[in-house]
Amino acid sequence: RLKVIAIDGPSASGKGTVAARVANVLNRDYLDSGALYRLTALYARQQHINWQDESGVAVLAKNLPVIFHNECILLDSKDVTAEIRAEDIGMGASAVAALPAVRDALLQRQRNFLTSKGLVADGRDMATVVFPQAELKIFLTASATVRAQRRALQFGIANNGIEYQQILTDIEKRDQTDRTRLVAPLKPACDAKILDTSLLTIEESVEKVLDWYRK
Ligand code: CDP
Repeated sequence: RLKVIAIDGPSASGKGTVAARVANVLNRDYLDSGALYRLTALYARQQHINWQDESGVAVLAKNLPVIFHNECILLDSKDVTAEIRAEDIGMGASAVAALPAVRDALLQRQRNFLTSKGLVADGRDMATVVFPQAELKIFLTASATVRAQRRALQFGIANNGIEYQQILTDIEKRDQTDRTRLVAPLKPACDAKILDTSLLTIEESVEKVLDWYRK
């Protein structure tokens, strides 16, 4: 078994926040694998490489000039921490993530995040592909409306109106893409514990993960 807690789940399920906090409590490193797909999409756009161009995007993914520094993410020495969170980059991430050569290009980079300190890894295929030997596997989910509300809150948008509706539509569309793609589709590992956080606070979700870890 690897010293890895794998936390997978759909968009805006809260897994990023939960994973980062669990890592903090256990004094482990944290891998935000989605950031690598977002960075790849952003880098492709900057280099004028089409998101559908599998070999072109894979070369960029392999050579991402990225530095993770505390909470900051630097791409080509430029701070892109906020830029990669934009919704269109999320869509781009989902597009490039469906390309097998891109997933291959990022595989070793993700595994390299594991040191003797141990890791909490967040993504779509942490338990199924990247760290199948993880000591604990969690599939963290929530209803689409709750996830849309969380995303709206993150962007400072009210829980009604057209912007909120757009967020909900985007989330459902991205889930659909992630679930139905041929490589590493979003799904729980056979031995994953399912955590539905629709009715849980972040603190309660963190506690639940820590409970499972301590058992
Ligand atoms: O923050 P959010 O949950 O919306 O997305 P993210 O975790 O940053 O991931 C963005 C996109 O990257 C997802 O929609 C997936 O298509 C892709 N991704 C993936 O395929 N595999 C991962 N391990 C992580 C993300």
